[in-house]
Amino acid sequence: MAQATFEEISASDFFYRNRDIAGFTNPSRAVFAAIRELVENSLDAAESLKIPPEIYVRLSFEGEVGKDTQIYKLRVGDNGSGIQPRFIPSAFGQILYGSKYKLKQMRGTFGLGGKMAVLYGQIMTHQPAKVTSSTGSTKIYSFKLMIDIQRNRPIILDRKVLVNKEQWRGTIVEFTLEGDYLRAKSKILEYFKQTAMVNPYANLTFVDPKGRLYKFTRVTTAMPDPPKETEPHPFGVDVELLQRLIQVTPYRNMLEFLKQHFHRVGDITAQKFLEFSHLSPSKNPKRLSHEEVVRLMQNLKKFKDFLPPDASCLSPLGEELLKAGILKELKPEYLVVNQRKPSTYAGHPFIIEMGIAYGGEIPKKGNFLIYRFANKIPLLYDEASDVSFRVINSLNWRRYKVSPDMPIAIVVHICSTKVPYKTVGKEFIADRPEVRREVANALREIGRQLHRFLSKREHVDREKRRLSIFAKYLPKIAQFSSHLAGKEKLPDVKKLIKSVQKYGEET
Ligand SMILES: Nc1ncnc2c1ncn2[C@@H]1O[C@H](COP(=O)(O)OP(=O)(O)OP(=O)(O)O)[C@@H](O)[C@H]1O
Ligand SMILES: [Mg+2]
Repeated sequence: MAQATFEEISASDFFYRNRDIAGFTNPSRAVFAAIRELVENSLDAAESLKIPPEIYVRLSFEGEVGKDTQIYKLRVGDNGSGIQPRFIPSAFGQILYGSKYKLKQMRGTFGLGGKMAVLYGQIMTHQPAKVTSSTGSTKIYSFKLMIDIQRNRPIILDRKVLVNKEQWRGTIVEFTLEGDYLRAKSKILEYFKQTAMVNPYANLTFVDPKGRLYKFTRVTTAMPDPPKETEPHPFGVDVELLQRLIQVTPYRNMLEFLKQHFHRVGDITAQKFLEFSHLSPSKNPKRLSHEEVVRLMQNLKKFKDFLPPDASCLSPLGEELLKAGILKELKPEYLVVNQRKPSTYAGHPFIIEMGIAYGGEIPKKGNFLIYRFANKIPLLYDEASDVSFRVINSLNWRRYKVSPDMPIAIVVHICSTKVPYKTVGKEFIADRPEVRREVANALREIGRQLHRFLSKREHVDREKRRLSIFAKYLPKIAQFSSHLAGKEKLPDVKKLIKSVQKYGEET
């Protein structure tokens, strides 16, 4: 039998071989995913400074490859935070490198997206990516980069420093990639529309390869407060995390260790917990044996008196902004939104926000239109695998006098420090029982309100129908009865109709 040969591959190499799992499946998905990843980075960069985002995306045709694939140049520019020059090469040339491995809500999570787009471009066209950025200082830095895939390191081909006369701040990323825009077009436009819906304070401009301009203009400059970074919640820790904390902690006793490194653990809670787990408050955490660390982790999960995580690390849209976004993009006749209180799964805080829109410009499709969002990112693929889809379709809608053939759109937004995505392509949310319960509760709440609206409308419609029958036949009845009674003058039926109309409006 032949001997097996072993080798090690880098993170870049892994994603080069398995680009499907990051959403870069074929030329159509790739062009969509590349735009999406870069737009998300730009939104994050502007929001981190609480600046209304101004994002410009241009996809231009560069040449033909085959029947269904072309070469495009993609350019995405923003007015975000910019990146300090020493971080630029790795931020765009080293997979699993980023500034978002923090416990706070952001669109970026994996340290992968932007690089995946650059990597895909590189392996298909062998052209370098160009990144130009300034943090608003006196200088603008411009890099030409490629990725050394086998070593997972950036290769800097060129570096320029320019004078920043206008005090420009932001980032422009430009590279070429293979794609199928024609096939991707509808998804890309849908992506911009939905992005505009949950980011109503953003200006988005997209110029397509034909030179067509799509503009999504902000309706407000009000923005949610940026999230604050938080410590891990005791329910979510594992042995590895405990050991890392023990290694770096400057605190020499368990009481301070617990208070300083964990979310929502104050003096009293820490003391109660130490009593519960038979540990002395003065014990040095660095002296804990392996067994004690494992027991500590188990007890952190068992102890019932920890407060649930607070929501300062989250930045939900809020009911007003969600309303503004839905009204702007969907133009419904009726809209109700609901934001749930913060909740947790496995120690990670999350909030569900939901809206249900009826009528107006919402089409009748025979099934509910579902718009799914996570940390203000639209999720456009794999709808049927998403927890929201399942909850929405398992609800007994008849109880709310609602049927799927009505013009109804349901908007679900989950925000969390750790969205339970099922893939690194960020396409759908895993079916966590806590998330499922919150989605179901929000849905019932807005379902009830929609029910009230529909019942009232039905009543008004019935009254209107009744009145129109009255208005039609009353003059005829008046004419006949006057004739029968042998009277010349007809009674004034208008008065009567008016009084009935008034009664209808009052009820
Ligand atoms: N437009 C931008 N403005 C400022 N910083 C940026 C921009 N684009 C990327 N970055 C920086 O580069 C890092 C890497 O981006 P990348 O998209 O590869 O990963 P990520 O956003 O951290 O996570 P994810 O894989 O979920 O997208 C980011 O963490 C951020 O610090
Ligand atoms: Mg990103």
